[in-house]
Amino acid sequence: MPTLTIPGLIDVHVHLRQPGGEHKEDYASGTAAALAGGVTCVLDMPNTTPPTTTAERLEAKQGLARTNARCDVGVFVGASIDNADEIAAAAPHACALKIYVNSTFGPLRVDNWELLDRHVANWPATKMIVAHAEGDVLDRVLEIAQRHAKPIHIAHVATRQEIEMIVAAKERGQRVTCEVTPHHLVLTRDDLPRLGPFGDVRPRLAGPDDRAALWQHLDYVDCIATDHAPHSIDEKHSDNVPPGLPGLETTLPLMLTAVDEGRLTLERLIALTRTNPERIFNLPPQPDTTVEVEIGPRYRLSNHGLQTKCGWTPFAELEVAGRVVKTVLRGRTVFDGERVLAEPGSGRVLFAAE
Ligand code: DOR
Ligand code: ZN
Repeated sequence: MPTLTIPGLIDVHVHLRQPGGEHKEDYASGTAAALAGGVTCVLDMPNTTPPTTTAERLEAKQGLARTNARCDVGVFVGASIDNADEIAAAAPHACALKIYVNSTFGPLRVDNWELLDRHVANWPATKMIVAHAEGDVLDRVLEIAQRHAKPIHIAHVATRQEIEMIVAAKERGQRVTCEVTPHHLVLTRDDLPRLGPFGDVRPRLAGPDDRAALWQHLDYVDCIATDHAPHSIDEKHSDNVPPGLPGLETTLPLMLTAVDEGRLTLERLIALTRTNPERIFNLPPQPDTTVEVEIGPRYRLSNHGLQTKCGWTPFAELEVAGRVVKTVLRGRTVFDGERVLAEPGSGRVLFAAE
């Protein structure tokens, strides 16, 4: 079967859970999942325990990544209610600032406009601000970023209302970029009866018209990012279901299926998963870093044989037509189609102080 070679993917939105959530995932397991999925660089979110809200915690987290990660990792800092006047000092070593305007897993949330305004005002325009801003609050967040002339990246756009707001802002000339997740491109709330707690995610799975709007406006989308958010099977079966879905190992199979079916071109997929993320977050190049993929033969995704510690995927049993055959990072084969060959600590930590 002929294979194709594309650049290693950059996933700008993952939760690798270290420190504090190591029973769900850690840098070694999460970056193994990345390499098995053809992802050679990840940007790791700050809603860990404790959250990454100070320069010291950022440095400690980068130390954990340095000894455990198997692919390259950038680390976010998070906006909190009490770090608006200090966190900008950490900007040189962070990949970006994450601001949670809506509530989700973990305590990080900036829930008043004055505080949000201060965070946006203080953060330097040389590094990105990433906002979790759903529905009506998105308009207000765009207005604040525009007023302070700061570039802003909107995480996991999930509805027609949101993508249409971003299209309008882009057409006005605002410096806004955005990402969509594979789960919002593939699943809808119609899948919830089947998935139960394994379909619980923020933003929630939306309607078929929302999903259609994301595909329809894909030219205005900058990145495909997984929001890889693993939780254990026991936690998903508990009375207090944490929202979040793993995604690192299923993105290429799902998106290559869209290529196979003529809904996406390979060139556009490379822009969404490599060249746009690299440019938007100003990431260093990864020479000789490629993924060999096979498109065509159909098979079913499965909960078995995954690298992620959580051990499940919301896409189990879905038929796909794409597979990662091999991942090469800086000239070295780090995934051979079955096994991850890169050892913990072989990945690089981006923007870290040396
Ligand atoms: O469903 C989600 N889970 N959405 C988020 O924004 C956070 C994530 C998590 O950390 O589990
Ligand atoms: Zn997230």
